[in-house]
Amino acid sequence: MHNQILEKNGFLNLPINPSLDLFEEINNLKKEKNAIILAHYYQEPDIQDIADYIGDSLGLAQKAENTSADIIVFAGVHFMAETAKILNPNKKVLLPDLNAGCSLSDSAPPALFNNFKLKHPDHTVISYINCSSGIKALSDIICTSSNADAIVNSLPKDEKIIFAPDKNLGAYLNKKTNRNMVLWNGACMVHEIFSLEKITKLKIRHPEAKFIAHPECEEPLLAIADYIGSTTALLKFTQQSTSKQFIVGTETGILHQMQKLNPDKTFIPAPPNNACACNNCPYMKLNTLEKLYTCMKYELPEIIMDENLLIAANKPITRMLEISKFYGL
Ligand code: 13P
Ligand code: SF4
Repeated sequence: MHNQILEKNGFLNLPINPSLDLFEEINNLKKEKNAIILAHYYQEPDIQDIADYIGDSLGLAQKAENTSADIIVFAGVHFMAETAKILNPNKKVLLPDLNAGCSLSDSAPPALFNNFKLKHPDHTVISYINCSSGIKALSDIICTSSNADAIVNSLPKDEKIIFAPDKNLGAYLNKKTNRNMVLWNGACMVHEIFSLEKITKLKIRHPEAKFIAHPECEEPLLAIADYIGSTTALLKFTQQSTSKQFIVGTETGILHQMQKLNPDKTFIPAPPNNACACNNCPYMKLNTLEKLYTCMKYELPEIIMDENLLIAANKPITRMLEISKFYGL
């Protein structure tokens, strides 16, 4: 019965007794099942508050690699849970809603990418972790926004490189590392929605505020940023900076940690170029406390992967983790 519900909806939408204290229930399930909850900064505040670890894509992959838990519950999106499974083929990895995909990952279908790769036969492939396991299996090294420049710089200056799937991060890295990597034409819908005009106006209205941006944003936006970095780097910057105000150019979920760690500072979400709150990632926000509870109770939905794909995708992720370790990242 559960599998039928899953097949139809991608998550277990079973009724939950409204009198339950879900925080208490989830904490009990964690202990009972020796489960760990790993959450990305873009998750809703309640999920961040109950997680055992909150981090960016690199931190989450490293935590998944080193955990002694029997069950990894991934409060993030599908490619992150897949990465945890690739690093832990013998563990159970759960994702509260299988519909939690990623527009950036979707922008690179493996069959099309393979054709692209065939057109550049002597190139090394670096892929951003925001891609499917099919793309990972076609890659030589994976990177995240935390270690991307170190990964690119680990290759000789004259190495021919394809960078996929994010063209914005790729262009940023080309500039930063003085390379000419061939870029796949993919992007994140959340980071491309910010309005340059509205942010410029906000900066004029708040001259003291620092504009901080994730490198998935488009170049004109990065050009006016006071600081560029991964979600973890942005968070650290807000703690170390003497500034009291920040305009935040990334998904709004991170504001929860920024505010928690800096109660005396003000955080303004960078405005999108329309009236809706489109700088919320619609995929990340599919996970809810209710889905997390049901998922842990019934241990469904589980990430199941083809064994050959799992082995092929492990290589470039392991290479990334080794390079990161070498550089102390
Ligand atoms: P980081 O977690 O590397 O900062 O990337 C943000 C992101 O878009 C995750 O989907
Ligand atoms: Fe994908 Fe963008 Fe959402 Fe990150 S914010 S999961 S890159 S769609």
